[in-house]
Amino acid sequence: MTINRKVLTLDEFTIQQVRHIPNATGELSTLLRDIGLAAKRVNVEVNKAGLVDILGDAGSVNVQGEDVKKLDIFANDQFTGVLQHGISCAGIASEELDDYIAFDDSVSRNSKYVCLFDPLDGSGNIDVNVSIGTIFGVYRRVTPKGDMACKEDFLQKGTQQVAAGYIVYGSSTMLVYATRRGVNGFTLDQSIGEFTMSHPDIQCPSIGKIYSVNHGNFFQYMEGVRNYINICQKKDKSNGGPYTQRYIGSMVADVHRNLIKGGIFMYPGTLDKPKGKLRLLYECNPFAFIIEVAGGKATDGKQRILDIQPTELHQRTPMFIGSKQMMEELEREMGKS
Ligand code: AHG
Ligand code: MN
Ligand code: MN
Repeated sequence: MTINRKVLTLDEFTIQQVRHIPNATGELSTLLRDIGLAAKRVNVEVNKAGLVDILGDAGSVNVQGEDVKKLDIFANDQFTGVLQHGISCAGIASEELDDYIAFDDSVSRNSKYVCLFDPLDGSGNIDVNVSIGTIFGVYRRVTPKGDMACKEDFLQKGTQQVAAGYIVYGSSTMLVYATRRGVNGFTLDQSIGEFTMSHPDIQCPSIGKIYSVNHGNFFQYMEGVRNYINICQKKDKSNGGPYTQRYIGSMVADVHRNLIKGGIFMYPGTLDKPKGKLRLLYECNPFAFIIEVAGGKATDGKQRILDIQPTELHQRTPMFIGSKQMMEELEREMGKS
């Protein structure tokens, strides 16, 4: 059997990156390897979701007041477990947990990073075999090593992220992650059970043809957003319109597609919910970091997502994210009203 030496696995790539950074300890590559491992375990369960008794509600309601699906809990346990037993993470915060967890053992207390995640995003799509995902953001802790992680380690601005990424469990399973050095995508090669480099140095096209928004809420959106959506639907040579509307209802899948093909994704505030639905810390910030490194933009309609000072773990924010020129056109419309 010949071995394909051109294939670069996630672990090989992250370890190679350590060589480029002076004084790097390798803790970040270890943390990313742990996340890759949890993702593979979740992938196995996602793939057999139709076969076993893992579909459907777990019968409880999470801190956001939403029904918790069994796979949400499974995924939460996997990501929490690998990070707790690894050597790089001092604590975690998750969509599925009311409060953060500071790991109380001597290794974790001396670890450099904290990780915030949405273990399963788009979980309303589990039962209907549509792509779902995981989202994560990694921060260097601000409290001293040796102490247990504190709330201030988790309430950092998105600009402070050291790495951010997502996994999309789709027609194939992909892990995409960004550091300031770039965005890279790895596809799970089921034959060897490894994430392998498939999308090196991802750049978001500066303009695309796709807009993604929940049209059902159209009359709930503020005027600037409605005007921009109208522009998306008009024939216009200068911006390539009309655009195509695509909305899966799994942000990971929607933003992943737009990152690769070019496009804009919006979850605006509504009259009933002015802050929208998406959570700043573990849904919006990781994607805002990834899209900016890839050359795109992300705002809440007024300011950069990454500049928002968080005050609560589960706070929500409107979010507009995507190709640079499309975002600028949106900003012009929103600035008028
Ligand atoms: P989660 O499954 O983690 O609660 O997140 C679902 C989110 C996001 O993925 C998606 O874009 C959005 O909810 C869809 O919401 P609407 O159905 O209101 O459009
Ligand atoms: Mn989510
Ligand atoms: Mn979720």
